[in-house]
Amino acid sequence: HAPVVVAIDGPSGSGKSTVSRAVAARLGLSFLDTGAMYRAMTWWMLTNGIDIDDADAVSIACAKPVIVSGTDADGPTITVDGVDVSGPIRGPEVTAQVSAVSAVPAVRARLVELQRGCAEVAPRGIVAEGRDMGTVVFPAATAKVFLTASPEARAGRRAAELRAKGVDEATIAAMAADLTRRDAADSSRATAPLVRAEDAVLVDTSELTLPQVIDAVVELVAERA
Ligand code: C5P
Repeated sequence: HAPVVVAIDGPSGSGKSTVSRAVAARLGLSFLDTGAMYRAMTWWMLTNGIDIDDADAVSIACAKPVIVSGTDADGPTITVDGVDVSGPIRGPEVTAQVSAVSAVPAVRARLVELQRGCAEVAPRGIVAEGRDMGTVVFPAATAKVFLTASPEARAGRRAAELRAKGVDEATIAAMAADLTRRDAADSSRATAPLVRAEDAVLVDTSELTLPQVIDAVVELVAERA
């Protein structure tokens, strides 16, 4: 029968990454962080001096980098032209520019193809997280989840993560503002905006613990698989 595909979408700070990874580990499935692919593409553009505001330049250049995404739930790595970029893609430069790069249709077409390829070779199936997994990339997914959380809960979680890393309060405030801007851009773009698929189950994580969210998603997959 068809391989299992679990599509998990939602805004930044909804708990998507942590939940997706844990669900993949629990179910013995591969894991795909599609945000990391858009970040890797953005990293390559910045490294090669491509003008991000020039959509035509971005469209042409996006065919060039070789992006290989690991699909191991324990610690997926991502390489661009053979270089491990797992660290740099989380930096503020990439984070500030990724929404602009990911709004370019040619970028999305290229990465969507890579994402579907990853699902095809996953031995037991895959948990894929992003913004358009249920709507565009895997419309026939076994189970679709849309994770949300109140803006306060999302900002609070992100701040706690950063504080734990020793980041100062001014930077935390700046990153919260950047996150709000990025979500607005991702939700309002013309191509593959962040929206809930009609058949996605909405899970509001504001008042739930992480184990509760993981259990809810695992249960949903068990019902559908
Ligand atoms: O999930 P993460 O915050 O790493 O995603 C970074 C950015 O990549 C998002 O803000 C969005 O612009 C883009 N993205 C996307 N489609 C996806 C995953 C991420 O446009 N499926």
